[in-house]
Amino acid sequence: MQPHLIAPSILSADFARLGEEVDAVLDAGADIIHFDVMDNHYVPNLTFGPMICSALRKHGVKADIDVHLMVKPVDSMIEMFAEAGASMISFHPEASEHIDRSVQLIKQAGCQAGLALNPATPLHYLDHMLDKLDYVLLMSVNPGFGGQSFIPSTLEKVAQVKKRIAASGRNIRIEIDGGVKVDNIRAIAEAGVDIFVAGSAIFNQPDYAKVIAQMREQLAG
Ligand code: DX5
Ligand code: ZN
Repeated sequence: MQPHLIAPSILSADFARLGEEVDAVLDAGADIIHFDVMDNHYVPNLTFGPMICSALRKHGVKADIDVHLMVKPVDSMIEMFAEAGASMISFHPEASEHIDRSVQLIKQAGCQAGLALNPATPLHYLDHMLDKLDYVLLMSVNPGFGGQSFIPSTLEKVAQVKKRIAASGRNIRIEIDGGVKVDNIRAIAEAGVDIFVAGSAIFNQPDYAKVIAQMREQLAG
């Protein structure tokens, strides 16, 4: 099985020093960068678009950039983010008129494709898509803001998704997003998660390397 990946969400970074912040978390041991795109339409907050993603690439960021689209409509953003240097792109199925088409656009653009499911979004959205997805992003808070508390019922959802993936026979990763901390990461991993997004837990601490090392310690169990 693939190793656990730690994906700091730059939503909680200091935007005035974004390039340095991304360098700092990568130097501190992060695996990939989680990039939360919000449009004040699908979610009640507004963040950043493809120009900021390409600015990070120009700055020299080599790690995978994991773009989480919380936007509606979805499709127009896919190609722009792929060109801007995204490695992985996920979107929320409720925000796309044609889910299969959006996934195809992501794959055609050469990126890994993920479906992002909110805490109350049913798993039936996966029914006809598991053969095409590279990962499933499970929201463990309602999307829109960093710093919220992990919704415990998500753990059961992780287990259910894990079963569906096992039945599909495919190597599809599960990513968890929202409220991940040092003190709950182990239980989340035990439920079957592969990729851990953490925003406030990392960026609100002075020593990024220390938090990431503590997370890895928990994961090593
Ligand atoms: C919420 C975002 C999350 C968020 C996670 O809409 O998708 O990525 O930044 O932040 P924390 O780790 O602070 O809950
Ligand atoms: Zn996110």
